[in-house]
Amino acid sequence: MAEDGWTVAASARSETDLQEFAAEAAPLSGRIVPYVLDISDGDRVRQVFLDIESGLGLPDWVVLNAGTHRPVDGAKFDADLALGLIQTNLAGSIHCLAPVIEGFVARGSGRIGVVASLAGYRGLPGASAYGASKAGLINLCEALRPELLPHGVTLSVINPGFVRTPLTDRNTFKMPFLMDVDVAARRIVEGMDSRRFEIAFPRRFAWLMKLVRLMPYAIFFMLTKIIVARTQD
Ligand SMILES: NC(=O)c1ccc[n+]([C@@H]2O[C@H](COP(=O)([O-])OP(=O)(O)OC[C@H]3O[C@@H](n4cnc5c(N)ncnc54)[C@H](OP(=O)(O)O)[C@@H]3O)[C@@H](O)[C@H]2O)c1
Repeated sequence: MAEDGWTVAASARSETDLQEFAAEAAPLSGRIVPYVLDISDGDRVRQVFLDIESGLGLPDWVVLNAGTHRPVDGAKFDADLALGLIQTNLAGSIHCLAPVIEGFVARGSGRIGVVASLAGYRGLPGASAYGASKAGLINLCEALRPELLPHGVTLSVINPGFVRTPLTDRNTFKMPFLMDVDVAARRIVEGMDSRRFEIAFPRRFAWLMKLVRLMPYAIFFMLTKIIVARTQD
């Protein structure tokens, strides 16, 4: 977006990474302004949103992308691990949505993109907590979209497949349809520009996952049983 001339307020917890990221935008026509933020702290989210508003103005677009994934072993189900994922991915995004919706509804315009995942379509082995957090986001977005539209606010859900990032660099298995992060970022911008509800990519993988979503339980569990057996080999 900075390449296209936008001023981008970017937030994350690591200050040095943010500074490096902002510096990368120096030759571009737009700019990146860093804001250190942990989205699991609701008060801090509200404060940072006010800081962005007073420093740069109320944003036109907001993309809620922060999130993480750790596999959760179903047979050794760890509540702290599972709740940590829910806290960042689901509660963190909810913390961000509240001040953004308040500002956008008061102005009567704005676009919001919430990054969920194709893994939120169905319960997948190893991803019980991650999938629950992303399924929760998809459901939340489905409910909010028609409520916000009459106020001039367009909300989209972004469901990526596998994208090459530090998060997926940790995966040891072969990731189907792995996409470069720059291509994924472009798809998000184009999708939000079109105002459509779901921005799902890569397209072929998204269609496959949509088929999986339609499968009756008998077939679906036959498939996931195979995945479990393979991971236990
Ligand atoms: N990569 C994929 O294949 C894939 C597929 C589907 C969905 N997604 C979703 O896409 C989003 C981005 O994933 P990614 O692959 O880019 O992961 P990543 O490489 O781990 O990056 C995650 C980003 O979120 C920030 N972040 C994490 N926890 C945060 C917190 N509590 N407060 C503020 N910022 C936080 C991180 O910065 P700090 O650590 O500095 O805070 C980092 O910038 C996530 O929501 C993920 O679930 C990714």
